[in-house]
Amino acid sequence: MKALILIGGFGTRLRPLTCTRPKALFPIVNKPLLQITFERLAENGVDEVILAVNKLTQFHIRQQHLPKYGLTVKYSLDPPKIPLGTAGPIKKAEKLLGHDDPFLVLNGDLITEINYKEMLATHAEGKAVATIALHEAEDPSRYGVAELADENRIKRFIEKPPKGTEPTKLINAGVYVLSPKIFNYIPSGRAVSMEREVFPRLAEENVLYGHKVSGLWIDIGKPEDYLQTNKMLLETCADKQRKNPRFECRNPVALGKGVVIGENSVIGPCAVLGKNVTVGKNVQIRDSVVFEDVKIGDDAVICGALIGEAAQIGKKAKVTEGCIIADHVKVKDGVLLREKVSVCPAKEV
Ligand code: GDD
Ligand code: MG
Repeated sequence: MKALILIGGFGTRLRPLTCTRPKALFPIVNKPLLQITFERLAENGVDEVILAVNKLTQFHIRQQHLPKYGLTVKYSLDPPKIPLGTAGPIKKAEKLLGHDDPFLVLNGDLITEINYKEMLATHAEGKAVATIALHEAEDPSRYGVAELADENRIKRFIEKPPKGTEPTKLINAGVYVLSPKIFNYIPSGRAVSMEREVFPRLAEENVLYGHKVSGLWIDIGKPEDYLQTNKMLLETCADKQRKNPRFECRNPVALGKGVVIGENSVIGPCAVLGKNVTVGKNVQIRDSVVFEDVKIGDDAVICGALIGEAAQIGKKAKVTEGCIIADHVKVKDGVLLREKVSVCPAKEV
């Protein structure tokens, strides 16, 4: 089975951390999301993955040398400076995907436990051109929403309907099984939106179906959701309670290789420290994700924040709820960053 992963978006809601890496490479409890996705696809019987990327995301992914779990990995590039949207890249990869069998398409910013084999079986039963995984969400207005007719046929698909107007709570989980007939529905050579152009037309022609899924599902595309994803997965895979006379870990906490922590520091609850992070004395870190190679000075406080790779946080500095500090930023000694401050890559504050 083949799977195409969409990884050519700009990740605007996670800027400025996405200035230097695509969402698919964000660490989830110290493992890149794409690596987790590869692992799951391989477990579900996929043998070939096509990454629908742009030049920049391709560059970043290549540099990571991720383990591939036996998958053949190919790239399909959006044309320079012309992002193809969410359907255009599927048309672009037509030759690679082939016309023989249905295939999977995944948004690249998801953590899910969806059983792809089951989805494929549902798809094969009916006369669907596309089968969409449908997940129940509290606030459907942030997503694509499906209205079902009989036998799981989707009679209407609306992308991000205004709040209060959503017909159901069933949202597009960003995972599709598509039949090769789909290529007839996507014009080539321009950006095409799967959600705004292709799905509504398939629904009209009665060839769009849904497959309800439950269990873990999160789109990491917003800072609070990314943080929440780490917290949830920390609960299940955090390191065992560390007893160290010099510092305190309040679980759940995950520490990457080579992390060094100074005396009297308190790490956690809900803190992820990437590899080679250095923490000074009397530091407090909670509800935060700290990427690799970050240096944190004595008496600093970090709560509810995202700290990018190789950033330096000065002594007595304080970084609070919703702050996003990009890669290589230097926050000087004593600086207080209040709620939701973002600092662009390599800046000094
Ligand atoms: N190659 C390529 N080119 N990929 C793209 C492009 C593009 O121009 N634009 C977006 N993508 C990729 C993104 O990188 C992401 O992995 C995926 O397509 C979806 O884009 P998002 O920007 O994350 O969309 P969204 O989260 O607002 O909404 C989508 O996902 C929801 C589920 O999380 C829609 O599919 C919704 O209907 C859905 O409910
Ligand atoms: Mg998304």
